[in-house]
Amino acid sequence: MKSSPWWKQATIYQIYPRSFFDSNGDGEGDLPGIISKLEYVKELGVDAIWLSPFYTSPNKDGGYDVADPRDVDPRFGNLDDAKKLIQVAHSLGLKVIVDVVPNHFSDQHIWFQQALKAKRGSAERARFHFYDANEDGTPPNNWISLFGGPSWTQVEDGQYYLHLFDSSQPDLNWDNPEVASDYEVTLRFWLDLGVDGFRIDVAHGLVKENLLTNHPDPQGISDALRLDVSMDPEIRYALLPTVPYFDRQGVHEIYRKWRKLFDSYKDRDIMAVAEAWVHPPINSTRYVRSDELHQVFNFDLLDAPFKSDFLFEVVNRSIELMDSVGALPTWALSNHDSPRVASRIGEVQARALALFVLALPGSCYVFAGQELGLPDGEIPDSSRQDPIYLRTKGVQKGRDGARVPLPWNGDTAPFGFTTGKPWLPLTDKWKELTVEKQSVDPKSTLNLYRTALKLRADHLIDQGSITWLESPEHGSKSDSLLAVRRGNVSIYMNLSDSAAEVEITGKLLIVSAGIVDSRDGKVTIPPVSTIWVHH
Ligand code: NOJ
Repeated sequence: MKSSPWWKQATIYQIYPRSFFDSNGDGEGDLPGIISKLEYVKELGVDAIWLSPFYTSPNKDGGYDVADPRDVDPRFGNLDDAKKLIQVAHSLGLKVIVDVVPNHFSDQHIWFQQALKAKRGSAERARFHFYDANEDGTPPNNWISLFGGPSWTQVEDGQYYLHLFDSSQPDLNWDNPEVASDYEVTLRFWLDLGVDGFRIDVAHGLVKENLLTNHPDPQGISDALRLDVSMDPEIRYALLPTVPYFDRQGVHEIYRKWRKLFDSYKDRDIMAVAEAWVHPPINSTRYVRSDELHQVFNFDLLDAPFKSDFLFEVVNRSIELMDSVGALPTWALSNHDSPRVASRIGEVQARALALFVLALPGSCYVFAGQELGLPDGEIPDSSRQDPIYLRTKGVQKGRDGARVPLPWNGDTAPFGFTTGKPWLPLTDKWKELTVEKQSVDPKSTLNLYRTALKLRADHLIDQGSITWLESPEHGSKSDSLLAVRRGNVSIYMNLSDSAAEVEITGKLLIVSAGIVDSRDGKVTIPPVSTIWVHH
């Protein structure tokens, strides 16, 4: 059974095009490469693919620096390849979501090139945030870029432009109607090509307030926004709502207009998911009000420790929050911006957590390679490419580790990903992790995902919400067990290093690791393992 509309409880597979499969030996993945692997994606059992940007780009920020949002970068192929990809995906029953990056363009976009040549105060500059320097020559305010360093860069005539990210990513001025109408053209362009939805990059950032005012604690807000900086939670939670460039009321007007545009594509069920890091968490529900977007990413599991109290809190709160606006949550354990889950919490733990999360109501995002249990790649500093690494002069290693290409087959790196030199190095240690090896191993992580996704579709998708059986606040077991019931399936995750015995009867559907012992109405769940039992 499939739930309706298609995206409500979909499993969406995130493809980072540069790292997926290289069809022409230049060391970088491309659209024809993706097309050639769509059967693999289909077999995995997901409902949709989300493609990270493949648009014309100088690639200073992995394609999130877009020079032409309505064309394909030659490194990835051309528009015909994009059309073919959409068509082949659809013929396999896969929906296609593309990334849009409305907060900024690349400095190579024609608009920015025109702005550089134009005068201060011109219509060309008004598409971005250009301002005069302060009297002492300093930037218009003291904001810090999310990638490190000042968020202003000076141009030849002395004016500064704003960039929340790299200096090659000038922020667009969404108060300018020309920006809004150009973006509508982009959305329609991809919808007319057949895509089924959008992932909206930095969806919470389009509208800025107090652009000419210093923030009292610029370093504080910059640190508070970064998950890798440890900070007293109370201080963090006090700082986050004061960030003048995120989650301002004005962004919702933009999404109301976009929603009308999406809905004008009658009987297409177009969906959009917001990348919105907001605080307090209740604010995320505003993005999925009935006249706005369809989903908002839930990032809480990306840095959650493998601890029952923490996971219980996240799962419970996420479901309750979204329920308050009649929406369902989304779940993600990894993406291209954060360390891979297997590296962060451990390989067996990642399998157990994935099997638990795949049973939950809502939509699950799976980052390509997660289904292989890939850890982060080992990258020498000399090969790093992330602007975070470059702008912080190596102080932060950046996100390249999660972006290492996928191992497909063979016994040595680059495991069939390319016939050339991969843009980031793969390690020979991944020999047992290739798609080829895992496909024939019934106990592999790949087969765990394949089986779980099939069982999810067969038994869980249309089953409404969960009832807690065991948690730090429910049931009678130790803190190391989390269990829920959904429809006719009970899902138990044993987080501890020892086996856990529970009283249940039913048929074991799947186990994430180890051997389940079941007799006399009692089931022994192996250490660090999740089971699904059908009643
Ligand atoms: C979020 C994207 O996921 C990330 O990769 C990118 O660097 C920033 N937005 C800026 O576009």
